[in-house]
Amino acid sequence: MATLATTTAPAPAPAVVPRVPIPVKGVDYRNKIVLAPMVRSGELPSRLLALKYGADLVWGPETIDRSMIGAERRVNPRNGTIEFTRMPSNGGRPNKPVKESVIYRINPAREKGRLIFQLGTANPRLAVAAARVVADDVSGIDVNSGCPKPFSTSGGMGAALLRTPDLLVFILETLVKEVGEPYQIGISVKIRILSKPEETEALVSRLVKTGITGLTVHCRTTPMRPREAAIRDQLPMIVRICHDAGVACVMNGDVTSRDQGLALMEEYGVDGAMIATSAETNSSCFRTKEDGGLAPWREVVYEYLCFCIESENRLGNTKYLLNMLIPGKDKEFKDTKLSKTYLDICRGLKFDDLLPAAARLDQLLGLDDKWEVAPHVTYLPTPSGLHTPTQSEPDTTPQSEPKSKAVQNAMESETARAAGGGAVRTKTPLPTVHGGGPIRRSSAPQPAKVTQVDAEQPAVEAPILAAETEAPSQVTA
Ligand SMILES: Cc1cc2nc3c(=O)[nH]c(=O)nc-3n(C[C@H](O)[C@H](O)[C@H](O)COP(=O)(O)O)c2cc1C
Repeated sequence: MATLATTTAPAPAPAVVPRVPIPVKGVDYRNKIVLAPMVRSGELPSRLLALKYGADLVWGPETIDRSMIGAERRVNPRNGTIEFTRMPSNGGRPNKPVKESVIYRINPAREKGRLIFQLGTANPRLAVAAARVVADDVSGIDVNSGCPKPFSTSGGMGAALLRTPDLLVFILETLVKEVGEPYQIGISVKIRILSKPEETEALVSRLVKTGITGLTVHCRTTPMRPREAAIRDQLPMIVRICHDAGVACVMNGDVTSRDQGLALMEEYGVDGAMIATSAETNSSCFRTKEDGGLAPWREVVYEYLCFCIESENRLGNTKYLLNMLIPGKDKEFKDTKLSKTYLDICRGLKFDDLLPAAARLDQLLGLDDKWEVAPHVTYLPTPSGLHTPTQSEPDTTPQSEPKSKAVQNAMESETARAAGGGAVRTKTPLPTVHGGGPIRRSSAPQPAKVTQVDAEQPAVEAPILAAETEAPSQVTA
């Protein structure tokens, strides 16, 4: 006869999926389709473009630890952007004029809660010092452990760290303790697969115990070329190890769209998917088919130029991505390549409504002496350094919009820093070209209900165009 105890025995508890806690100012990588870190292609305007089309999170381009250390933080009063700047060395030439360079830009209004800063490092002490410079302005710090370029690996950084797991573990543990915990943001790592699955297994098993909240795996080995198809057969094993430790696992390699990313997440049980090269050629890949799918290139280029002008992006970098976004056979491609100013680019593309803003930016950047034909109106300087037209003409740039809380906070903390004390609200208008909200309407599936428990390019991946490199700090990974 069955006893009361056996008849009323509770059903076995549902399997508890452990999860490392996500710090208060951090972000959970689960159920996210994200923009990959990309030197040159991952500057502020491209990140804003990806967010506009529905990317859930964006990684900034790898930035080397030493270049961030000592960088000055300031808020650009014209657009509310946070800029990290430093004076480059003048190569020992005392008469050479030195111009400060902007190493990193953040748009606090649009990137708040969605930006991950990627570090190139091989030294825990330098990693911490560099991460502290940006920790207040980002949601996470990611360590690049996948860049195969000799200039990165020769310094022990990038993919070299895959071969020095003790060092990589030490860097991550130190960042977790000295940056993640005090600043309440997540620390994560981006790796490549190793050729032998058991080696990948041994490495990942160690990494997930460091206190990281996320691990991205680029499903190519270090010697593989970018054109070689990603290898996904190690993914289930990597996912299992991450999940056993409560760490989010993001897959990368040949993910071409949001829709495909969501399907791959389902197929492999990964928590998120990261897109690089497909976003370089058309960032609207972050938009689902249901919400319109891939947008025509002219629309994407228009949106991109709006963000470039608003962000005061360096022309060389703007042209670099335009060359990716504009199909090579179009006449506009040739014209854009030859243009030396924002005005001429917008004229060539017939974006007439952007001309006043483009002209003002050219003046601000000192490019107006390169105009093919000067505009038929004169732009007068405003107190902020931007210019206003003297006659009525469509004027798209920098129309002020109410400052968001994030921008206000950024500007207040900037003012406070400068003053060495209490925050003062500045009245400088925030220029914006257009709204930055995602176009996507549908969203990623809701995360499964879980219980939180404490748990604890090979040869060539991307072209290096040294002459046009935005900042020496950033390397192509
Ligand atoms: C132009 C370019 C720059 C890149 N820069 C970085 C970088 O800074 N950090 C990094 O971890 N990976 C970098 N990568 C690698 C990508 O993040 C990604 O891992 C790789 O392109 C594979 O993704 P995909 O198949 O979607 O292109 C870069 C790739 C490209 C094409």
